[in-house]
Amino acid sequence: MGQYKDLRFPADFLWGTATAAHQVEGHNTNNNWWAWEQTPGHIEDGTTSGRACDWWNRAEEDLDRAAALGQNAHRMSVEWSRIEPRPGEWDETALTRYRQIIGHMRRRGMEPMITLHHFTNPLWLEERGAWENEETIVLFNRFVEKVVEALGDMVSLWCTINEPNVYAYMGWADGVWPPGKRDIRTAFKVMRHMARAHVVAYRTIHRLQPDAQVGIAHHERPFDPLRPGSALDRLAASLQNRVFNECIFASMYSGRLSLPLGWGRVPEAGDESEFMDFVGLNYYTHEVVTFDLSRAGELFGRRLVRDGVELNLFGEEVYPEGIYHCLKKFARYHKPIYITENGTSDHGDDRRRRYILQHLVQVQRAIAEGVPVRGYFYWTLVDNFEWAKGWSTPFGLIYLDPASGERRPRPSAELYAEIARANAISRDILEAGC
Ligand code: NOJ
Repeated sequence: MGQYKDLRFPADFLWGTATAAHQVEGHNTNNNWWAWEQTPGHIEDGTTSGRACDWWNRAEEDLDRAAALGQNAHRMSVEWSRIEPRPGEWDETALTRYRQIIGHMRRRGMEPMITLHHFTNPLWLEERGAWENEETIVLFNRFVEKVVEALGDMVSLWCTINEPNVYAYMGWADGVWPPGKRDIRTAFKVMRHMARAHVVAYRTIHRLQPDAQVGIAHHERPFDPLRPGSALDRLAASLQNRVFNECIFASMYSGRLSLPLGWGRVPEAGDESEFMDFVGLNYYTHEVVTFDLSRAGELFGRRLVRDGVELNLFGEEVYPEGIYHCLKKFARYHKPIYITENGTSDHGDDRRRRYILQHLVQVQRAIAEGVPVRGYFYWTLVDNFEWAKGWSTPFGLIYLDPASGERRPRPSAELYAEIARANAISRDILEAGC
C-alpha cells in the first residue's frame, strides 16, 4: 500500500475557471480602464488590453476548450459599458451576444456564474464620480435589473461585485488603478457605496428570480503576525485583517455597516439581516506583518516577505495553507462556499502545476472536515490582460500569444482536467507530485 489515497470531492462539485469581461473581450473602448491604459506609465509593461483574447468574437472556441478539459462551470462578467453605453440607453445587441455565450456554455454542460461588476465602469459613470458618488447605487441597480431580466432564465449563480476591497485599495490607497488617487477616506466611502449597492442588487435579483443564488467574490488576504508570540505583531495583523478583510465582507453580508467612518445600518437593508446566499472566496496569498511604530498609515503593520519562501511573479508568497484557513473561517456562515478565484502566474508551468495541486489538497482538507465548498474556479482559462501588469503575468491554463491570438494548452490544463474528470485528486497524481 502506498502512502496516499484518492482525495475525493463532493458529488456535483463545480470545476471551472474564471474570467472578467475587460480582461478577455477586447476593444472595450467605452470604460474607465481603456481610458487609463492609454496614458504611458499606467501599465507596467507599456501594453494595453487591445484585442485581449478577442472573446467578443471567439468566446465559444475557448469555452469548447474548457469543456474538453473536463470543466463543468465557468465564471465570467458582463461589461456595463457595452450594455449601457450611454446613461439609460441599452444596447440589446450586447445582451444578445451575452445570451449566445452563456447559451453555448450551457449546451457544453457548463454552469454559468455571472459577475455584474468586475472593476470597470462605463466612461459616463466615471465622469460622474462612479463609486465615489451615492447616485451609483441607483444606477447600478437599474443596470442589474436590466441584465437579470435579459439573462436570468439562463443563470442562477450571480456575483454582484468582484473584490470591493481590492477595487478601493488599488484605486484610492495604492493609486495604481483608476482613478489613481491616494485618499483613504474616499476609499472607505467607495466601499460603503459598494456595500449598499450589493444589498440593493441582492433584493432586486431575488425579486426577479426568487431561486437565484447571489453573493460577491470577496478577496480574502489573511494577515498573519511575523512572530505569533508577540502581542504587538498580533495587534498589527488583526487591525489590517479587520480593515482589509472583515469590514467590507461583514457589511455586505449583514447589511450592517461596520466600515470605519460608516457605522450603523445600510439604509436600504430594512429588517433583513442576511444578503448572501453563498460565500465567494478569491484567494491568492497571505501577508506577514510586524508591528512598526513608524507606519501609522498602515495601522502600524509593516508587511514583509520571509526568507526562503516561494514567490509568485508579483513577489507574493505562495501559501497553500492560507486557503484552508480561509475556508475554515468562512464555514462560520453556514452557507455554500465557492472558490470564485485562485491561481498563479508563471511564464513556464511548473509553478502553476504545483500551485494548483497544493491548493486543491488544502481545499479537499477543508471539505473532509465538513466545510461546505461547492466549487472551484481557477483564475484563469486563457492568458489575459492583467490590469496594471499588462500582459507580463500570465495566469492561464492555456497560453495565448496576444499578437497572433494563437492558443496552446499548458500541462497544468491537463493536470486540472484529470482532477476535474475524476472529481478527485488521484493517488497517482499525489505520488507523482509536481
Ligand atoms: C483578482 C481579480 O478579480 C482578477 O481580475 C485578477 O486578474 C486576478 N485577481 C489576478 O490578479
